[in-house]
This record gives sequence, structure tokens and C-alpha cells, in this order.
Amino acid sequence: MTTVGASTGSATQGTGSAAQDAGSATQDAGSATQGVEEHVARNYNPLPVNIARAEGAWVTDVEGKRYLDLLAAYSAVNFGHRHPALVAALTEQLGRVTLTSRAFMSDRLEPFAAALATLCGKDLVLPMNTGAEAVETGIKVARAWGYRVKGIAADRARIIVAAGNFHGRTTTIVSFSDDEQARDDFGPYTPGFDVVPYGDADAVAAAITDDTAAVLLEPIQGEGGVIIPPDGYLRRIREICDEKNVLFIADEIQSGLGRVGETFACDREGVVPDLYLLGKALGGGLLPVSAVVGDSDVLGVIRPGEHGSTFGGNPLAAAVGLRVVEMLESGEVQERARALGAHLATSLESLIGHGVTAVRIAGLWAGVDIDPALGTGREIAEKLLERGVLVKDTHGQTIRIAPPIVVRATELDWAVEQLRLVLER
Ligand SMILES: Cc1ncc(COP(=O)(O)O)c(C=O)c1O
Repeated sequence: MTTVGASTGSATQGTGSAAQDAGSATQDAGSATQGVEEHVARNYNPLPVNIARAEGAWVTDVEGKRYLDLLAAYSAVNFGHRHPALVAALTEQLGRVTLTSRAFMSDRLEPFAAALATLCGKDLVLPMNTGAEAVETGIKVARAWGYRVKGIAADRARIIVAAGNFHGRTTTIVSFSDDEQARDDFGPYTPGFDVVPYGDADAVAAAITDDTAAVLLEPIQGEGGVIIPPDGYLRRIREICDEKNVLFIADEIQSGLGRVGETFACDREGVVPDLYLLGKALGGGLLPVSAVVGDSDVLGVIRPGEHGSTFGGNPLAAAVGLRVVEMLESGEVQERARALGAHLATSLESLIGHGVTAVRIAGLWAGVDIDPALGTGREIAEKLLERGVLVKDTHGQTIRIAPPIVVRATELDWAVEQLRLVLER
């Protein structure tokens, strides 16, 4: 058994139980082996690591080898794998009631909605499950608001989106993606979207017509490679939307809930959108929980029977989501992401010119562009895997770094050292 990280000094501190777990991981896995997914549809191309256990910032594969997780399930695991407070909330709720459907009320939903609305400074929460469902919900709310409040003629409502966006995988959402892999062969496409360059507020202003119901943006484009728009962009979008009576919908599914060193990426510019789309970390890394959050003059347009989901807002989701919100209330998680991010920025920036061509970082979230002469992002990810570090590539040359926010500074140092060694070789 190889235990990666055993030679990393303080990087291993606090991960003792993960190392101890490793033995039983091998037993748990039975005949499982690395890299075999014969019966799994090929809609992903995973790195050859077969994870059996996880704790905090570390995962353990079926052979007992440990890896530092620098992806955190695309920021769904912001609080670390199996955070004890979240597991406790889930376990406690498992012993009470798990699923009621929204045909009835459950005693968990209102406390969750109230806490989340307060965190967002809004009145209402519409709970769903996956991120794509939150985006679809936001689109429906915007269209209904366009017809019922703004007075757009029937079936003419349009939504402005940004080039390079990633909002999920449903047929409507891929209709306004410009990523060929996400879109090709999945038509016919849903009409009603106008794509403008990301980061260019004037382009948004120019694209608005009387039929525009909303502008839908990621405040930082995650899948795009952690693309941070120019300073003042979000503020300007807010002003334009106010001037033109258009909703501003912020997709904070990946950027929100502590990742960027603030509760929301919009907070970096002191901007409040009309609708927040939330997901990923809202489920604490335990189960899918998403939500649309807004004020009643916007979100209140949805009437009984017009939208819903069997599992949306279920008692388990609400119990975990409430605990997630409580964990964000003190600001400690956000502060930790900010401090660790500043630390990570310094070490990553030292690699520029040494195999790295650019680094973009917001809080504890970095896009690192690899010099094409040294290999693709995927090749670098494979090399890092061999050294016990999990990252995910995107758009060819970029690797994304988004560790669980419980990671230690020394662990980050160790991971960046592994990247330096991979690039050197
Ligand atoms: C910004 C953003 N929106 C929406 C989604 C879709 O979320 P899900 O995969 O839970 O449907 C993602 C997923 O990566 C995302 O990053």
C-alpha cells in the first residue's frame, strides 16, 4: 500500500483517521479495481482513480492510496468530505422523516428557506435538487416575470447570456452554450437566448430590447477556466438591468457559498442580483440541493401547480441545507477561503514562466493555464494523480484548483510543489 502524503510532513497532520480508514477501504472495495467502469455510460472520461473513502480534504482509493482533493466535486464539497456537523444533521433527519413531497408541508423546509433567504437578503426560496434545475427554474421565473410583470408579448421573452457560459446540461441550457461538445447533436434548440461576450457590459446594454426579460451570468465562469470578469463588470450589469427593467440572474452554483472568500462572488463587487441560483455546496457534499432565491415581486410570480419537483426541498435536503447556511453565517468559512486563497496565489504565481502561462484566482479557486509545450491540462492532471493530487482539466490547457475549504496551507504548499515537480519533468 502506498500512502501518498506520508512524506509531506505537516500535510498529513489531521488526516490520521483517513490513513487509518485506508485499510478497511481495501476490504470495502471487494473486487473493485482502478479504472474499470464497464457498465457505466461513457458520458465522462474520469481519471483512473477509484475512490472508496474520503474525509476532509483527502480521498482514499480502493488500494488504500490517499490523494489530496483539489476539485472538491466542482465545489460541492466546499466544507470538506463528510463534515461531521453536516453528517450529524443528515443522520438526525434520517431518523425522523426523509421524504414527504411538497403535497404536504414538512417541518424542515420553512426553517431552511428562512435561513437561506436571510443569508441572501431576499424573501423567498424555491428549492430544487441539481444545479441545472435551478437554472431552468430561473429561466421559467424570468419568462413568467417578463409576461406578467414587465408586459412582454406572449412567447417573445428573451434572456441574455454570456459566451463561454456553463449552466448545466439540459436541452434548454445547452441551447445557449457555445461549447460544441455540450451542444452538437442535441438540437433542436430552445429559442429565446442572446449570447454576448463575457466581461463586456456594453455588449449586454446593446443587446437589450423591449423583449429582454433577464441577463443570466456566472459572476465568475467556472467551467470556462475560472474566468474573472473585469472589475466593475457586475456593478455595471446591475445598473444596466435597473435602467432597462431587466432581471439580473446570478448563477452562483459553483462560485457561491464561500468559495471565493465571500458568501457570493457578487459580493466582491457589492452587487445583489434579482435571483441567486444556488446548488453544489448547498447540499454540503452529501446530497443534491439547489435553490432559486429572490424577492417576492420576482419569485412570487410562480403560482401553485406551475413548477416543482418530487424531491425539491425534501426534509433531508432541508436539514442539510439549513446546517450549511448556519455554517456560513459567522463568515469563518469565507475568511478561511480568502486567507488560503491569498496563500495559494503566491505559490501558484511563482510557477508563471516555469510551465505555467497564467493564473487566475478568486478566493480559494484558481484556473492555472499550462504551457502547451509541456502537455495538455489532462496530461498534467494524470501526472499529478500519480503524485497523489486530484485536479480536473478544462478547455485543453487549464487545470482548476478548488480544494475543500478545510484544506491546510501546508497541504496546499505540498500540492503546488507536486505541480512544480510535474512541470519540471
Ligand atoms: C455555474 C454552474 N451552473 C450550473 C451547473 C449545473 O449544475 P449540476 O451539474 O448540478 O446540474 C454547474 C455545474 O458545474 C455550474 O458550474
